[in-house]
Amino acid sequence: MAKLFKQHVFFCTHSRDDSSNCAEHKAQSLRDYAKKKVKKLKLKKVRINSAGCLGRCSLGPILVIYPEGVWYQYQSKQDIDLIIESQLQNNRIVEHLKR
Ligand code: FES
Repeated sequence: MAKLFKQHVFFCTHSRDDSSNCAEHKAQSLRDYAKKKVKKLKLKKVRINSAGCLGRCSLGPILVIYPEGVWYQYQSKQDIDLIIESQLQNNRIVEHLKR
């Protein structure tokens, strides 16, 4: 059976009462931005997912891409653009965002 998706991108969008959570750092809006961008680029084998706490809260906002298992800390739409262009389209790690 063929793989349905080549890569899954999990964005922690978890929220809780302190400031050390990804939701406090624009995680939801940047996840939504990533989803729209992947759709616009027609990357049909890439799935953008929301996730609960991924256990790396102090690095938030954080995402992880599987099957590579590469973690990224991002801050802006420019960071998301770079991750999409490098990791998702060209299989190149964005070293300065990798955690
Ligand atoms: S709140 Fe995002 S990793 Fe824990």
